[in-house]
Amino acid sequence: MNYRHSYHAGNFADVMKHALQWACLSYLQQKEKPFWLLDTHAGIGMYDLQGEQAQKTAEWELGIKRLLQAEDVPEALSGYVQAVRDLNLPEDSCRWYPGSPYLAALQLREQDQLTLCELHPEDAQLLAENVVQDFPRSQRITVAGGRNGFAALKALTPPPIKRGMVLIDPPFEQPDEFEQVINALADGTKRWANGTYVVWYPIKDPVVASEFQQAVADLPQVSKAMAVDLLIRGAQDSSRLNGCGMLFINPPYGVVQQLPTIMNFLTPLLKQERGAEWQSHWLVGEED
Ligand SMILES: C[S@@+](CC[C@H](N)C(=O)[O-])C[C@H]1O[C@@H](n2cnc3c(N)ncnc32)[C@H](O)[C@@H]1O
Repeated sequence: MNYRHSYHAGNFADVMKHALQWACLSYLQQKEKPFWLLDTHAGIGMYDLQGEQAQKTAEWELGIKRLLQAEDVPEALSGYVQAVRDLNLPEDSCRWYPGSPYLAALQLREQDQLTLCELHPEDAQLLAENVVQDFPRSQRITVAGGRNGFAALKALTPPPIKRGMVLIDPPFEQPDEFEQVINALADGTKRWANGTYVVWYPIKDPVVASEFQQAVADLPQVSKAMAVDLLIRGAQDSSRLNGCGMLFINPPYGVVQQLPTIMNFLTPLLKQERGAEWQSHWLVGEED
């Protein structure tokens, strides 16, 4: 396991992922009933953008830095943007960037539960420290350090809390990771058909991304799924990370409604070269 998210924290992919994660949890918050979130690949939760690793790539300068400097940010993004701003007070600079567990913890209410899995031993330790430091005594957050997120999905579903979401955000550094995700989704949807599943994936060669989407669409328990793809440049060179996507099984209605607003704003903002664009399409259900 070589991947360390601290090199990439706050980059264009994090911005898209976290904007849509925030929108999903905002939607779940609309009902009083509790929700559960399982973050299968949590990372360390908080990133120092002035630290050595983030400085080495400076990817955040083409991601969250642009969003924090943007004007006329739409309402649909304002909660996420404010959460990042609040971490950087009073300087109003951009030093601290929250990962998916931290953002989720901010949106948790008394009745909700959050389970965080991180396999890398050092990162699991840092995750536990970051969570304990800022959310002390929270009974609602379980840090399953050293736990394989795919195995946890199998072991923890169906959950006692019936509403909720699984966020799957692997590093995609192993050649079989798309397959692992498909297997986990096959199993998860068999056990917990009504849950929302959100998967982040890289787009180097768009054909690989569409094969993955098709494989998910073919799963027997999946009756509603949508993919949202963002290209930050035309994908002529498939050795580069040209964009990323989010695949939703049972996407919250309110998030589908907000997609054009969010993505029309983010796409020109996160563009790196000619050919940037976004698109969404139903893989199964709705506009089938
Ligand atoms: C892309 S990063 C996660 C970033 C995080 N979700 C965020 O948005 O802030 C992927 C993380 O998954 C961890 N990881 C890799 N394989 C795993 C597995 N099978 N189970 C749990 N964590 C894993 C890596 O150590 C890495 O920290």
